[in-house]
Amino acid sequence: MTSSKKKMSTNFIYFFGALGGLLFGYDTGVISGAMLFIGAELGIKAGSFEDGFITASVLLGAILGAAIIGPLSDKLGRKKLLLTSAVIFFVGALGSGFAPDYAVLVSSRVLLGIAVGGASALIPTYLAELAPAEKRGGIGTLFQLMIMTGIFLAYVSNEWLSPKGMFGLSPAVGWRWMLALAAVPAALLFLGGLFLPESPRFLVKTGRNDDARNVLLQINSNDNAVDEELEDIKLQASIPSGGFKELFGTMARPVLIMALGLAIFQQVMGCNTVLYYAPKIFISAGFSEHFALQSHIVIGLFNVIVTAIAVKIMDKIDRKKMLTYGAIGMGASLLVMSTAMLVLKAGNGNLGSWICVIALTLYIAFFSATWGPVMWVMIGEAFPLNIRGLGNSFGAVINWAANFGVSQTFPMLLIAFTPAHAVNAEGQGIAKLFIVYGILCFVAIWFIAKFTIETRNRTLESLEADLRSRAHAKGHVEAGEPGTF
Ligand code: BGC
Repeated sequence: MTSSKKKMSTNFIYFFGALGGLLFGYDTGVISGAMLFIGAELGIKAGSFEDGFITASVLLGAILGAAIIGPLSDKLGRKKLLLTSAVIFFVGALGSGFAPDYAVLVSSRVLLGIAVGGASALIPTYLAELAPAEKRGGIGTLFQLMIMTGIFLAYVSNEWLSPKGMFGLSPAVGWRWMLALAAVPAALLFLGGLFLPESPRFLVKTGRNDDARNVLLQINSNDNAVDEELEDIKLQASIPSGGFKELFGTMARPVLIMALGLAIFQQVMGCNTVLYYAPKIFISAGFSEHFALQSHIVIGLFNVIVTAIAVKIMDKIDRKKMLTYGAIGMGASLLVMSTAMLVLKAGNGNLGSWICVIALTLYIAFFSATWGPVMWVMIGEAFPLNIRGLGNSFGAVINWAANFGVSQTFPMLLIAFTPAHAVNAEGQGIAKLFIVYGILCFVAIWFIAKFTIETRNRTLESLEADLRSRAHAKGHVEAGEPGTF
């Protein structure tokens, strides 16, 4: 096999391996645009429970999808479930696009959520298991790059398919196209997925060592290292599959705490609220609605570019450093933005307004380059093979639950923080709330220093060996829990 042929095939593998991220981004990003028209069409009152539930249904489905996929992927393999999630994405997209009523729309959105959550727990593991150690961070970051691309495409389709957009569709039809279009990447994911290899780690686990060796030969540039890697994988795979007892046992505890903290902090540092409310913040800072909506698309594109840069640097800088710098940058940006709004009275395009816009853009850049991808990469690589699917599910469920918690509490907190009588009262409320998220960014720095394990440039097998020998040295190996080999 020539090396140029190898290169082509790895690009194919990593592209389609990560493509589910695009659906994750599109399906979560598109709803804000579609919601502007769904209510009138299906007779749903703005601000009602039904109205909020159309958005929340994906998050609830995602918690469910993330919970079920891990244990299944440890049993059935990563590839089969990737194909299954493509089918669910497809059905969910068409179901919501053609929904005749509220019930069908919400059921389809829950279904989509199951696929989104499933993909978020499955893809980081799959990519980590297919990547050579020295490139694993960059390859894992492709997942976040796909998420950001999906969000950007959603913003574009929201703009183009709205009544005033490029295609001038009627309010009754435009939102249907926005939602149904996700069926196209879903079909592509299914077709490309058919040609993807199974994870070599899963193949060894199920006794298919020769197939695993072939996959390793395809993805490694150094053929000589393959047999050594295969031996390491075999050693880890010989440990019987673990269940919840091992996931919550003492051996896995350091990575469990790390996954828990990373998953929660990624959300409570405010990434989704800042992204979602960016246009509102621009308007509060005194810019026109038109400027705000256009800049949302520009921010979407900017996100994609920053994440593409992250793919390049991910394996050159320690993950813990990325997280620390990211948290400092995000925290500082939020505090500067709040100060500009509260003290400099951002409004009417004054100095405070521009500081606000710059700080918000910097916040998003720091997130996209660090916490966005690194959280998923680390959760994908941290757990031992015999509980990897389960562990990844755990991290993803916590992340989606935290996402749900932040998005559900945001409106209430905003009301609580908004002064009753003030010029630009809502802007002031947002600014105060962002101080809270900013403080949490600094708490995250403490968490990283105390509870995270550096994973860059280490094979998955050596990370696992460390974990087991540490537990063994401390005498923390419980009955029935494989502690060492
Ligand atoms: C986060 C999502 C977020 C997305 C885009 C992901 O890493 O987990 O909650 O919506 O990035 O910002």
